[in-house]
Amino acid sequence: MTANSATGRRGASVSNSGTAGSVLREPLASEVAQLARIWYDGWQDAHARILPAALARVRTLDSFAQRLAAALPRVRVAALPEGPVGFCLVEGDELNQLFVSAAARGSGVAAALVRDAEARLWTSGVRLAWLSCAIGNERAARFYEKSGWLRSAAVTEQLAVPTGSFALEVWRYEKRLQAPQPAA
Ligand SMILES: CC(C)(COP(=O)(O)OP(=O)(O)OC[C@H]1O[C@@H](n2cnc3c(N)ncnc32)[C@H](O)[C@@H]1OP(=O)(O)O)[C@@H](O)C(=O)NCCC(=O)NCCS
Repeated sequence: MTANSATGRRGASVSNSGTAGSVLREPLASEVAQLARIWYDGWQDAHARILPAALARVRTLDSFAQRLAAALPRVRVAALPEGPVGFCLVEGDELNQLFVSAAARGSGVAAALVRDAEARLWTSGVRLAWLSCAIGNERAARFYEKSGWLRSAAVTEQLAVPTGSFALEVWRYEKRLQAPQPAA
């Protein structure tokens, strides 16, 4: 999959590998509900069993829709003709969120979204990027590690919740970015 954001251009890029026909592009405002569903379902799959119930209670479908609507300019989606199958959100020097629908996992979509996010970060001047991963989210950890991210520490993060903040110990990953290669 090529990523136009690697060149700083906006718009879509077409996949030649992974999930056939998927495209990386900016989200449409009308897709917030679909993306919130991917986020909610992925959160349940990856986090519900390993994170405190008090956090799960506030991670509602509506809360994800609100966060997505507010962050839409920093979101890129991987989409099939029928709609998005995953998204990645960057914030400052952080790869903030990465969620792929269950059907699209293992297909290369997540790797394409991460390459695109790294290129976006690079273009905005970031050279050392970081992300948080829930402790015990072994699939995500394996994915980040095979994507060249290094676990640097376990740190306490203050997660934003409706009542203020929620302290959670997480794995911190870092990656020293390199200039994106132009598409062949
Ligand atoms: C994290 C995520 C984006 C990764 O995308 P993906 O398409 O599943 O990633 P891949 O399949 O390419 O890689 C996952 C790796 O973990 C391995 N894996 C699968 N289940 C695993 C488990 N329970 N424990 C450890 N490794 C596991 C896979 O075999 C694969 O490794 P391999 O390529 O060496 O065989 C995706 O799984 C997802 O959206 N999960 C739910 C949401 C989530 O956890 N987001 C990240 C929040 S930090």
